[in-house]
Amino acid sequence: MDKVEQRAKDLLAKMTLAEKIGQTVQYGRCEEREHKLVAEGKIGSLLNVHGPKKINELQRLAVEETRLGIPLLIGDDVIHGFRTIFPIPLGEAASWDLEGMEKNARIAAEEAAAEGIRWTFAPMVDITRDPRWGRIAESTGEDVYLSSLAAAAKVRGFQSPNEDGYPTVAACVKHFAGYGWIEGGRDYDTTDMSERTLRETVLPPFEHGIRAGALSVMSAFSELNGVPASGSRYLLRDILKREWGFDGMVVSDWESIEELIYHGYAEDRKDSALKGLNAGVDMDMQSGVYLDHLEALIQDNPELLELLDDAVLRILQVKIRLGLFENPYVSEEAEDSLKGQAIPASHLAQARDSARKSIVLLQNNSGILPLDTGKHQKLALIGPLADDRHNSMGCWAWKGRDEDVVTVWDAFQSEIAPKAEVFFEPGSGILEELDDGVERAVKLAGQCDVAVVVVGESEAMTGEHYNVTSITLPPCQERLIQELKRQTDTPIVVVLMNGRPLATPWLHEHADAVVEAWHLGTATGLALVDVLTGAYNPSGRLPITIPRATGQIPMYYNRKNTGRPHLYEDYIDCDDDPLYPFGYGLSYTTFEYTDLQLERHQIGRDESAQVSVSITNTGSRVGEETAQLYIRDLVASSTRPVKELKGFRKVWLLPGESCTVHFTLGREELGLLDERLEFTVEPGKFHVWVGPHSEEGLQAELAVV
Ligand code: NOJ
Repeated sequence: MDKVEQRAKDLLAKMTLAEKIGQTVQYGRCEEREHKLVAEGKIGSLLNVHGPKKINELQRLAVEETRLGIPLLIGDDVIHGFRTIFPIPLGEAASWDLEGMEKNARIAAEEAAAEGIRWTFAPMVDITRDPRWGRIAESTGEDVYLSSLAAAAKVRGFQSPNEDGYPTVAACVKHFAGYGWIEGGRDYDTTDMSERTLRETVLPPFEHGIRAGALSVMSAFSELNGVPASGSRYLLRDILKREWGFDGMVVSDWESIEELIYHGYAEDRKDSALKGLNAGVDMDMQSGVYLDHLEALIQDNPELLELLDDAVLRILQVKIRLGLFENPYVSEEAEDSLKGQAIPASHLAQARDSARKSIVLLQNNSGILPLDTGKHQKLALIGPLADDRHNSMGCWAWKGRDEDVVTVWDAFQSEIAPKAEVFFEPGSGILEELDDGVERAVKLAGQCDVAVVVVGESEAMTGEHYNVTSITLPPCQERLIQELKRQTDTPIVVVLMNGRPLATPWLHEHADAVVEAWHLGTATGLALVDVLTGAYNPSGRLPITIPRATGQIPMYYNRKNTGRPHLYEDYIDCDDDPLYPFGYGLSYTTFEYTDLQLERHQIGRDESAQVSVSITNTGSRVGEETAQLYIRDLVASSTRPVKELKGFRKVWLLPGESCTVHFTLGREELGLLDERLEFTVEPGKFHVWVGPHSEEGLQAELAVV
């Protein structure tokens, strides 16, 4: 038993039943009733309370007014930044920059902790293949390998030690499990999947987050294979706590224990509390069913006390690990200084760097980018998102402030105007046309050398509960671009700002360049101008496939082969391939892959093989390439995907410069779950590719004997 566990057990031994139940209760508001409950020791945690003064006042009630003085755990949704807003997680994933993700999480944690928030409900590690679902913006995309590494990086960032050596905030990997598989892209809907998909695709990012030390897990709203996740013993006790040995705490999603009633899994609130406790949900977010019913349930069945003790022990351990008992309070100076002060320069610099690394150049057919201010003396900036301070922060950016955001128009004026003339017309609203909007935009574009058109989604078109049936640009914005194209000869650079992949084949065909910018956060304009002018050579790669049409969903690179691969024609009314494949992204330079080498072409089942490839920057600019390693297990006891990402390396190369990148393929990369879902490495042949994205690469063959 370690010291933390011993300390938690000693404390638990002193607690009354009511005090124990209090620890399992969390509310998402704090009005008169909740204040009173805190002072009575009947609340263990709060979320959505803000400001050091308020938080200290509540901590004082918990620490000084209650018998045992157990501090509160204050949580919040610190998803992609707190005051400094970084790109939405889907955009950040396009950077494939794990170190950057860790840094962003650390800064977010520091800003949140300065306000007294010591627990974030992040990272979300739900893999999804459905861009209709609004929460895709919070995900790191479709791939299990990339999402697993991202999960671990973010947990490390959030929980990096503060100056007293405690985790800055506790991370919470969510939503356990299967939430990204909801039917029809409809939030909260049913999920139903094979045990294989669960084990191979959905669970690994959670496991990686937990292995990186995540102190908590959130149970999902959705049901999985007939049992709601927040009532699932199988998920929470069997897999999470027993199989993986997770010793942190599980919190429900908002009222998801009480919602067991609506799922038809619990009879009433009392029954939902019983099912939640039995399943292994340690803390009840918001529904109050533990507060109202656990005492009676335990009186009816004293054996439940053991489950309650386990839940409380886990919660106390998290509070101890965070150092809350040593220092429950936060400096109240932070409130004043945060109010009056600008974002620290180092945070803004990281936001800018992270944002530009997240941008993906999708198309540059006519070579119009980077903009050349020597040649392009008059630049038109057009589009509803070009000067939008709010929407460019994306969903879940509540603590971000509009006034902190540098829009594209701001950055055009500060960074480009000294060298060229810049003009702006919105041209359209996000969802509705503007009077004369198109006419004014066409007139402006006609008078300029280039038009940069910034279109896309508002922050409220993705995030929780914002789902769509069509993943296209809103019609008014599509019309704006079509009219610019029809009525002028001015080259058009389209910048997309969105929380989900948008199916825009028309743009691909007709625009001169297309830039995927997601919702980039505080430094939006600076990052985009860096990329548009070539001050930064774009290096982002898609963490998700972009389909041609909504009807192609689900579309992801690591599909299975059919029995008729030669007849691989899915639709009679649409091409079969995606608009842009997973891993794709252009640069202002070009890279050539040569000399794919396998150190050994045959290895034993416990051995590993070194893979190397040479990459040369064959263009005229310095740039970064992300070399991606994929494999295919050709014949196995369970069918394998046509490709699986198993490694990537990022390299910066000067023009003409070459380098060799190395990968290792061993048990972990080559193994699979056999028919009984047990991990094994089977003898057989593997194709190995290294290349710039999931549809291109040099190929070699490896045999496992
Ligand atoms: C519901 C969301 O599903 C979850 O992700 C979030 O952390 C909680 N609400 C708390 O705001």
